[in-house]
Amino acid sequence: MTQEIKFQDGGSYEQWMGVWSQLVGDQFLKWLSPQPDATWIDIGCGNGTFTEQIYNAHAPKEIQALDPSPEQIDYAAQRIPSENVSFQVGDAMDLPFEADRFDYATMALVLFFVPEPAVGVSEMVRVTGSNGSISAYVWDVLEGGLPAEPISAQLRRLDIAYPIAPSAEVSRMDRLEETWVEAGLKNVETKQISVQRTFDNFQQFWDITTLSPSIGPTVKSQPDITKRVKLMTQEALGVDDTEPVTVTGFANAIKGNK
Ligand SMILES: C[S@@+](CC[C@H](N)C(=O)[O-])C[C@H]1O[C@@H](n2cnc3c(N)ncnc32)[C@H](O)[C@@H]1O
Repeated sequence: MTQEIKFQDGGSYEQWMGVWSQLVGDQFLKWLSPQPDATWIDIGCGNGTFTEQIYNAHAPKEIQALDPSPEQIDYAAQRIPSENVSFQVGDAMDLPFEADRFDYATMALVLFFVPEPAVGVSEMVRVTGSNGSISAYVWDVLEGGLPAEPISAQLRRLDIAYPIAPSAEVSRMDRLEETWVEAGLKNVETKQISVQRTFDNFQQFWDITTLSPSIGPTVKSQPDITKRVKLMTQEALGVDDTEPVTVTGFANAIKGNK
């Protein structure tokens, strides 16, 4: 049986995923093109990496951000010390807010972790005001969009199981669109966002990417597995020890109005 993916360290998260999240978040927010002075809920805010982008680029009146991980919330709260931004521990399937409270409800890289994505979306709809915006983006997990794909692909070749997000199916573009349409949203639009990150060399790519709580514990579980997977990954990327390594990730994004 594979392990559950847990997010318990905001600093480590920033290195392996926060940087990637902001690369997608930047394009996503341009596409969403939000109004300034709006009220936001950022669900599954993690260590606050995407919350920070909303805060820095879109002059919000208020952001309420929540995540089930207390460690991530502690990190996020120190990251953005503003009286317009509040962080709390909470769950996407049971938002602690009254109906029609926000202009923008959003989830960055979260929906595939929510046990019942449709319930998570119905909660976003509930807390958003009339004509408000409900949006999300998710790595295209099942089509190889995750930034750890170069390593995951080798684990699959070796038939080594590793944990994936429990609701990964919702990351497919058609499933994502269906979920928004079934939630009764209007003006539903989708977009695939592709991003690239360059690492100084293979060792840096390996050290940072294996901080992931998904593939990390699996590749580090036994020295012989680590050695084999590392060698195979480097061969598949076709790089020597010194040249830079550029990796592509792609995410499916969606937006609609209540
Ligand atoms: C990949 S991180 C994304 C964090 C942040 N939004 C970002 O863009 O970097 C996924 C986050 O989803 C959170 N999460 C998992 N299950 C959740 C749930 N049921 N409700 C809300 N958030 C959840 C995790 O704790 C984790 O912080």
